[in-house]
Amino acid sequence: MLYRALFQLAVLATFHGTSEGDTPAVTAPLPTAARDFLEAHNEARAAVGVEPLRWSEQVANVTSKLVRYQRDKMGCQFANLTAGKYGANQLWAHGTVVTARMVVEEWVKQRQFYNHTDNSCVPNHKCGVYTQVVWRKSVELGCTQATCVKEDASLTICFYNPPGNYVGESPY
Ligand SMILES: *[C@@H]1O[C@H](CO)[C@@H](O)[C@H](O)[C@H]1NC(C)=O
Ligand SMILES: *[C@@H]1O[C@H](CO)[C@@H](O)[C@H](O)[C@H]1NC(C)=O
Ligand SMILES: *[C@@H]1O[C@H](CO)[C@@H](O)[C@H](O)[C@H]1NC(C)=O
Repeated sequence: MLYRALFQLAVLATFHGTSEGDTPAVTAPLPTAARDFLEAHNEARAAVGVEPLRWSEQVANVTSKLVRYQRDKMGCQFANLTAGKYGANQLWAHGTVVTARMVVEEWVKQRQFYNHTDNSCVPNHKCGVYTQVVWRKSVELGCTQATCVKEDASLTICFYNPPGNYVGESPY
């Protein structure tokens, strides 16, 4: 029997060099996908004693604009977010449909490589996507997913405000 990988997933986080203050804006009522993104994040945060994020329509609108650009011009490839104002997690999926909850669960899988005792990551693994999910000082979340039919791919981007993943800082 022929067995091969039917789908691929890839994850990406952003990192920030220095900490800076940022005042979050107000919240808004939640559509279903937003609620799923938010709940999955807040379960992972509660699991390590970190306060919940709240949904920001304004932040979500920024991800929506970016994701539509990546869909229309970039075939759903990862966005280049090295110098962004927000913290960001991305998930690129090929050949499979991923729900909001599945996206976040994929990110939270990095938890197994993260050592909170000394804020380190197992060598040859990445933890930055997970550490952004549970970053205590991030308080607002906004996410959008887009699908590229021709590429049989989707891209999901979540932004976090204020950003997490300051090098040398512990997430919580
Ligand atoms: C977000 O985008 C929607 C749809 O374009 C718009 O109606 C709404 O005012 C925007 N919200 C914010 C906070 O920018
Ligand atoms: C991303 O943008 C930065 C500067 O904004 C640039 O230096 C870098 O080469 C870009 N990376 C990719 C993969 O395009
Ligand atoms: C986590 O780091 C601490 C301190 O460096 C170390 O003692 C411990 O063994 C590490 N835990 C795991 C699971 O690697």
